[in-house]
Amino acid sequence: MSGNSREYLLSPATRIGGRIVVPGDKSISHRAVMFGALALGRTTVSGFLPGADTLATAQILRDLGVSIERIDETTLQIDGVGMHGLRGSAKPLDCGNAGTAMRLLAGLLAGQSFASTLTGDESLSRRPMRRIIEPLERMGALIGSTEAGTAPLQIAPSAGLRGIEYTCPVASAQIKSCVLLAGLYAQGETWVTEPAATRDYTERMLAALGADVQVDGLRIRLKPGRTLLAQPIAVPGDFSSAAFFLVAAAIAPAGELMIENVGLNPRRTGLLDSLLDMGADIVILDRREIAGEPVGDLRVRASALRAIDVPIKRVPDMIDEFPAFAIAAACATGTSTVRGAHELRVKESDRIAAMARGLTTLGVNVQEFDDGMAIEGCGQFGSGCIDSRGDHRIAMSFAVASLRARGDIHILDCANVDTSFPSFVQLARASGLHITVRDQERIA
Ligand code: S3P
Repeated sequence: MSGNSREYLLSPATRIGGRIVVPGDKSISHRAVMFGALALGRTTVSGFLPGADTLATAQILRDLGVSIERIDETTLQIDGVGMHGLRGSAKPLDCGNAGTAMRLLAGLLAGQSFASTLTGDESLSRRPMRRIIEPLERMGALIGSTEAGTAPLQIAPSAGLRGIEYTCPVASAQIKSCVLLAGLYAQGETWVTEPAATRDYTERMLAALGADVQVDGLRIRLKPGRTLLAQPIAVPGDFSSAAFFLVAAAIAPAGELMIENVGLNPRRTGLLDSLLDMGADIVILDRREIAGEPVGDLRVRASALRAIDVPIKRVPDMIDEFPAFAIAAACATGTSTVRGAHELRVKESDRIAAMARGLTTLGVNVQEFDDGMAIEGCGQFGSGCIDSRGDHRIAMSFAVASLRARGDIHILDCANVDTSFPSFVQLARASGLHITVRDQERIA
């Protein structure tokens, strides 16, 4: 194996400040490319996230015969081929590190008349795919995987799918979206029921493009047969990227940070509610709507935080933010708990284990549960070397910890920060973190 191994070195910083704009929302960017490809007409996507995950999705749609032009860093022009215009690709479709790409594309490809193979990197090849294979097979798809139910996924040409009524066993927007996308190609209606509401971009965007999608509480009904028509798509800033800076400014000994143009869909902002419950000084300014999504600017000032028990029903609304939350909890007074978050074990890394190990290295008392953790706030981190396990959100969270550290923090395996937040280091420096990047060739 050879590759690039990136490390971050952080020396303690004490002050945060300035105004930053985080890159476009990852979930919306993936969907904009996929749905723009299926729509009739030209879709211009502005504010697109130029991260490795979303660029992988764009490359896969190109491999499937769609013309996608990059007008500038964050603007794409997609010439949609219509619902039945995709062409099979002889080579495997590489999703890289992106679970959203693999799970949504599996649904979209399950109903096509050609075969496809979806592959991913080491981390994605360990992540559970039976959760999508099972409903897709109930719809009539034929999908090969490893014995462990992981990628590569071999999707056979479809002999026709049928709509199903599916109850998701876990709260997952990726499972829901996968089944709905297959439903676009099925005979009859597809119904999906969720155990708890998850991000609803698939339903909203498909409906905006003309699909027949009805939402009734936790039940979603999709009726196939409509043509999708291209619309311009404006992508707001990613709340999950803003999250690192929200926590940074909340724990910093001093300063004030403005984070502009952040998507505030309520299915994403559980961390904001948790930080406010902890006593953080965060104000939403200039609330507005962009392309049907709530957006605002966040002003965050340093403040004393107190521990909380995260309400279990809030977990899906902050599912990607627990690494950042854990850093805030370690700086709070008292012991914070997270329960009902077993899904964290199957993200880009086992995030419960990765955070527990990293926090312990920095001198924080942590108790690990199967479905969460208890974090004893101690106000300050020690120094140490953290293995991010190739997980972008683990790497960025520990970088932020340097605002409350007594010594240097060295973070290993950070290259995947580029999957979701390629400008992280630049924005971290601009707002006051003392971060150095070291790239090394890795040959093994
Ligand atoms: C996503 C859904 C979530 C989230 C991921 C993006 C999406 O995954 O963790 O980062 O865009 O649908 P799950 O559906 O596995 O919870």
